[in-house]
Amino acid sequence: MANVRAYLVLSAFAAGAALIPGAALAVPSADNGKAAFVKHGCWQCHGFEGQGSTETSAGRVLYDTKLPLEAFKAYVRDPSGAMPPYHAEILSDSDLADIYAYLESLPKPKPASEIPLLKQSSAAGESR
Ligand code: HEC
Repeated sequence: MANVRAYLVLSAFAAGAALIPGAALAVPSADNGKAAFVKHGCWQCHGFEGQGSTETSAGRVLYDTKLPLEAFKAYVRDPSGAMPPYHAEILSDSDLADIYAYLESLPKPKPASEIPLLKQSSAAGESR
């Protein structure tokens, strides 16, 4: 009987332990991401809004990145150009996912066709 009880206790423990990795997969937080973007100095080259600059990010714009999350993470871990690499010991996977969520949460520009002034000037350009 004692063995059965020990088994039940152990299996309940194992079931609980199995839930812990699930807890680590918390929904990414744009607020944490903003803090991590600042803390890790991404803003120094990419700008606070991920708007980038020709001087410091080779014109790369992050707020509107076309990279899917996995490719985004892979680039930050092992960049190919002037950007310094950020290894997992410095920047955790969850902070990186939060940074991505922050960038995704930033407002995106409208297409030129939805901006009246640009629509006008492109129409004017066409009539020339
Ligand atoms: C010292 C400047 C610098 C810092 C700091 C920096 N980057 Fe970059 N990043 C760059 C440059 C320059 C590029 C353009 C490609 C290259 O040269 O590596 C780039 C490219 C990228 C790209 C690829 C974008 C694309 O569309 O190809 C991502 C993603 C990125 N950076 C994310 C980050 C994140 C997240 C951080 C902070 C953890 C960060 N960077 C910090 C300079 C920087």
